[in-house]
Amino acid sequence: MTVIVTGGAGFIGANFIYYLLNAHPDWRVVCLDKLTYAGNLSTLRGAMDRPDFRFVRLDICDRAGVYALFREEKPEIVVNFAAETHVDRSIEDPGIFLQTNVVGAGVLMDACRDLGVERFHQVSTDEVYGDLPLDRPELFFTEETPLRTSSPYSSSKAGADLLAMAYWRTYGLPVTISRCSNNYGPWQFPEKLIPLMIANCLHDKPLPVYGKGENVRDWLYVEDHCRAIDLILQKGTAGEVYNVGGHNEMRNIDIVKLICAELGKPESLITFVTDRKGHDKRYAIDPAKIHAELGWLPETKFADGLHATIRWYLEHRGWWEEIVSGEYRNYYEKMYAHR
Ligand code: NAD
Ligand code: DAU
Repeated sequence: MTVIVTGGAGFIGANFIYYLLNAHPDWRVVCLDKLTYAGNLSTLRGAMDRPDFRFVRLDICDRAGVYALFREEKPEIVVNFAAETHVDRSIEDPGIFLQTNVVGAGVLMDACRDLGVERFHQVSTDEVYGDLPLDRPELFFTEETPLRTSSPYSSSKAGADLLAMAYWRTYGLPVTISRCSNNYGPWQFPEKLIPLMIANCLHDKPLPVYGKGENVRDWLYVEDHCRAIDLILQKGTAGEVYNVGGHNEMRNIDIVKLICAELGKPESLITFVTDRKGHDKRYAIDPAKIHAELGWLPETKFADGLHATIRWYLEHRGWWEEIVSGEYRNYYEKMYAHR
């Protein structure tokens, strides 16, 4: 079995590659990644020398390059993680989000049709459902919830989902889609809430909380997401969407306070800053379908996962210090200096 994993030098893709290499020692894994600012080859160091792993630097929008790689590797399965993923960046500059997340996904699906792959899996997000109000805790996103996006990022991800369903219906391309809630864990780029707050705490820098910090996200440890995708590849049904989430809703401010407490830093570092434009209030996944049909349930409790994640960032300072001391400083200045 050969699996092409796109975006495997990023946060979830890299965790997924390690998960696959461990769970399926007889599978060959090929990682295709453009290495944007969010891709990091050092994250894949533990796989690079393995005979059952290959890394190829390639843009998913490069049609000729993608077709050539697919014809050479003849994968049975393609899992698409490659994307521009940061909501704040999409608000500043939407163009690349449309290009990679919609056009690039379309190129991959065309190459899958060309080759007749057994499965194309699109890694999507709960953000395609928009948001839920804070005062209706009984509401959750199901697979039937209409798509109602808020940001250029989520709109581009919804575009790819619609394209995938169209390729299933029109061409019979065997697609599956997973829509997962917020992930956390090792190797997450420090522009995202949890690693940003850990890095800033460790540098005794202000902790920029948007608005009042009351927005709610539904957090899932990355390994639980990887296991869900692996199950969908093996037991999921083509043409189906699976929501992935663990009923673990937290307010942003409470997460930041937990990080301060675990690192022994004062809450006086918390700084309330101008809110994100169009900021989604609450995400909450109903995972009943993947539980009932595939037997998936999250295994990592939030307290344990957050503790493990903080420990990982303490033990891998070199990895994230190199990022935050480079081009990231310009990004940070642009996004936060006058917020
Ligand atoms: P990330 O930003 O950490 O990594 C993205 C990876 O994609 C990087 O390695 C980057 O180099 C690569 N990439 C970007 N553009 C590319 C292109 N044109 N061609 C090839 N490679 C390209 O992202 P992540 O947080 O690991 O998210 C992975 C996927 O999971 C995304 O599709 C995202 O929408 C989805 N998702 C993320 C979360 C989350 O909480 N992080 C939750 C649900 C779904
Ligand atoms: O729900 C899944 C999505 O989760 C994925 O599809 C996205 O790729 C991923 O980036 C994530 O989106 P969010 O916008 O929820 O994640 P982010 O880490 O950017 O922000 C989480 C919450 O924290 C959000 O309410 C905004 C807030 N926040 C974020 C940052 C970076 C702050 O208050 N301060 C910050 O500095």
